[in-house]
Amino acid sequence: MPKTIIVSNRLPVKISNADDEYILSPSEGGLATGLGSIYKQDNNVWIGWPGIEITEQHDKDRVTDQLKELSLVPVFLDQEEINQYYEGFSNEVLWPVFHYYASTYATYKQSNWDYYKTVNEKFKDIILSIAEPGDIIWIHDYQLLLLPGLVRNELPDVSIGFFLHIPFPSHEMFRLIPWRSELLEGMLGADLIGFHTFDDVRHFLGATTRILPVTTSSNIITMDERSIVVESFPMGIDEKKYASLPLQDDVKEQIELIRNNFKDNKLILSIDRLDYSKGILQRLQAFELMLQLCPECIEKIALYMIVVPSRDTVPQYAHLRDEIDKKVGNINSIYRTMDWTPIHYYYRSFPIEMLSALYYTADVCLVTPMRDGMNLVSKEYVASRINNDGVLILSEMAGSSKELIDAIIVNPNNTGEVCRAILEAVNMPLEEQQKRMTSMRKLVAKFNISHWVKIFMDRLKEVKLMQRSMQAR
Ligand code: G6P
Repeated sequence: MPKTIIVSNRLPVKISNADDEYILSPSEGGLATGLGSIYKQDNNVWIGWPGIEITEQHDKDRVTDQLKELSLVPVFLDQEEINQYYEGFSNEVLWPVFHYYASTYATYKQSNWDYYKTVNEKFKDIILSIAEPGDIIWIHDYQLLLLPGLVRNELPDVSIGFFLHIPFPSHEMFRLIPWRSELLEGMLGADLIGFHTFDDVRHFLGATTRILPVTTSSNIITMDERSIVVESFPMGIDEKKYASLPLQDDVKEQIELIRNNFKDNKLILSIDRLDYSKGILQRLQAFELMLQLCPECIEKIALYMIVVPSRDTVPQYAHLRDEIDKKVGNINSIYRTMDWTPIHYYYRSFPIEMLSALYYTADVCLVTPMRDGMNLVSKEYVASRINNDGVLILSEMAGSSKELIDAIIVNPNNTGEVCRAILEAVNMPLEEQQKRMTSMRKLVAKFNISHWVKIFMDRLKEVKLMQRSMQAR
């Protein structure tokens, strides 16, 4: 029976090594949840990097066996591959360029590119070792842009879907990358290429027609007599999970605790992975401006800010962390009083139950990335507001702003605008909150993660049928 093979840089599990034991804990990430319904079925599998370096062969074998029980297949990376493919090329070329930080952060090193190619080949070899005729392969994200092409060369008829979880930049940005043609050719190995928004689709089509000798008609690209369909599929979340968590007893306890701690305060929530694209420093500036301009906000409004550690071996991330520490320290030292702290800052990850309690309790959620493919935090906040209250402030640079149009939409570079949005949000009448939140909740419930998986997979099947009927003509 044909199977579906999901491929992403990381496997949907966290692996830790303690006392010579490898402990696997399932990831709660959106992708893992969404694709859970697929990779755990029948003989389907998920291929990816376990996230830690394992050197000894007997340890690799042990982990491989443990992962097999969960339908997961590891791609082991050595330290040099992690340094050059993951940190170097993926996160010091593709990530900054695709988020419009090319001039600030991108460094184009030939050896990083060589490792990127080698590791994409490594993923290809693992796919080839398990793929059989009729299988469907769904490849994810910027770490694996070459993989669709590499697989296509070996398996000309196989169905390949590719989804990019980050923005695709304008041609003016993308063209800066020395290996731009190879990257596009790699992506075009897929039959269906998905992005979060229509703008990403437009940018991709623009870059492809300018850089490669292809023809396009609407959203179909023809290359070497193959037709490739490019479309937007805005990713959703597991809305039911977020809507039901606040009803759990353990979450209710946390909600009570948070309410008691912040009973005289309006609570503003901010949750991100450590990343310069998330606009954390700019957000802090807007909060500081609010404290400067609004003395009556002192002791009345608190910011609960969670930054989840990420990529901290990449120098720019380590530097950003220091800058955030400094900024938070500055603001707290200037404005704190005996009974009140303006910013409650945590640099760590939290269990989903605590996140749910925060989403449920926070009066305002402040999501102001400088650039973001989708931003699932904004959708998680909405899904958690089961009483239809609360206010979302959302950057127009987040993919989700195209759907969550009832949020207060801001330009994250406009400190004054973000500051005014915070004041508007904390003072918004309940009726207005409910009107906006009700319509956003409907949208998040309808276009949930299962819907996203289904429409992508259905479309991939249609595209394959379309290609076959064109070939038969
Ligand atoms: C983004 C990317 C994912 C990535 C995640 C965490 O959401 O689109 O591909 O897995 O960040 O980053 P990390 O580098 O820790 O995998």
